[in-house]
Amino acid sequence: MSEGLRIQGLEVTYRGHPPVKAVAGVDLEVAPGEVVGLVGESGCGKSTLARAICGLVAPSAGQITFDGVAVRPLGMSRRPADLQRIQMVFQDPYSSLHPRRRVGVQIGEGIRVAHARGVSDAGSPAGWLQRVGLRAADARRYPHEFSGGQRQRIATARALAAQPGLLIGDEPISSLDASTQSLVAALMHDLAVAAGAGLLFISHDLSVVRLIADRLVVMYRGRVVESGRTEQVWSSPQHAYTQTLLAAIPVADGQGTLPAAPADDVEYSLEPVLHASG
Ligand SMILES: Nc1ncnc2c1ncn2[C@@H]1O[C@H](COP(=O)(O)OP(=O)(O)O)[C@@H](O)[C@H]1O
Ligand SMILES: [Mg+2]
Repeated sequence: MSEGLRIQGLEVTYRGHPPVKAVAGVDLEVAPGEVVGLVGESGCGKSTLARAICGLVAPSAGQITFDGVAVRPLGMSRRPADLQRIQMVFQDPYSSLHPRRRVGVQIGEGIRVAHARGVSDAGSPAGWLQRVGLRAADARRYPHEFSGGQRQRIATARALAAQPGLLIGDEPISSLDASTQSLVAALMHDLAVAAGAGLLFISHDLSVVRLIADRLVVMYRGRVVESGRTEQVWSSPQHAYTQTLLAAIPVADGQGTLPAAPADDVEYSLEPVLHASG
C-alpha cells in the first residue's frame, strides 16, 4: 500500500511543570511524490511534529501511519525496516551526519538500510555524491571538509540512499546563506520527486518554500491554521496569522525570512482555514 503519510488528531505533550502541548491536534497527509511545505514561527511545534512522524517522540493522542503501517515511537536507529522508509535531514548537519566518518561510509549506511528492506539496486556512494552535485572522490573526505550547503547535499544523499517513501527536512536550509538555500531546497525537491517519495519540507522561510511546495501548511501554536495549494495560500491567505506571515516578507530583497516572533503580542484564531484543495 503506498498511501503515504496520514496523521489524524495528533497531540504531543512534553512532561514538565506545566506540561507543554507542543502539537495540539494536527491532521496532515503527504502523498507519494507530493511536496508539502510546513511553515510557522519558531516554537509552534514543527520539529515536534517531525520527530513524532519519525517515531522519535511518543504522541499523547492521535494516529500516524505510513503506507498503512502505524508509526511506533522507538528511536531513529532502532526503527524497524518499514519505518526506515521515513528519513530526515536536520537543520544541523551534524545531527544528520557523523563528524568523524568518511561521507562515503555514511552514504553506504543509507544504502545498507535499503538493502535490508530487499531493495537490490540502491546505487553506490559515488553515484549518490554525483547525483547531489559532488564528486565521486569526495567519498573519502569527512563532513568538516565541506561547506554547509555541501554537507546538506551529503545528508540528503544519505537519506535518499535509504530509498525512503517520505523525506522530511526540518529547517534543512536555515543555517545556509541565502544564495545556497534555494539550490539545496530545489535539489531536495527534485531528487525526492524523482524517487517517487513525498517531501515534508519544514521552514520558516516562506519565499523558498513557495518555490518548491505543491501544498502549504501553516502551523500556529501546535495547530494547523491554514492549508491549501501553494499558489492559493500565497495569493489569497484566509487566516489572519497567514496574512501576517506573508506581510512580514520583505519584497525588495526577496529574503522572505520571518521576524523571530511576529505574533507575540497578537492572539490569532485557532480556527483552521482549509482551502477547497487543501
Ligand atoms: N524536549 C522538549 N521538552 C520540553 N519542551 C519542548 C521540548 N522540545 C520542544 N519543546 C517545546 O515545545 C514547543 C514546540 O517546539 P518545537 O517543536 O521545537 O517548535 P519549532 O520546531 O516550530 O520551533 C516549544 O514551546 C518548545 O519550547
Ligand atoms: Mg524546529
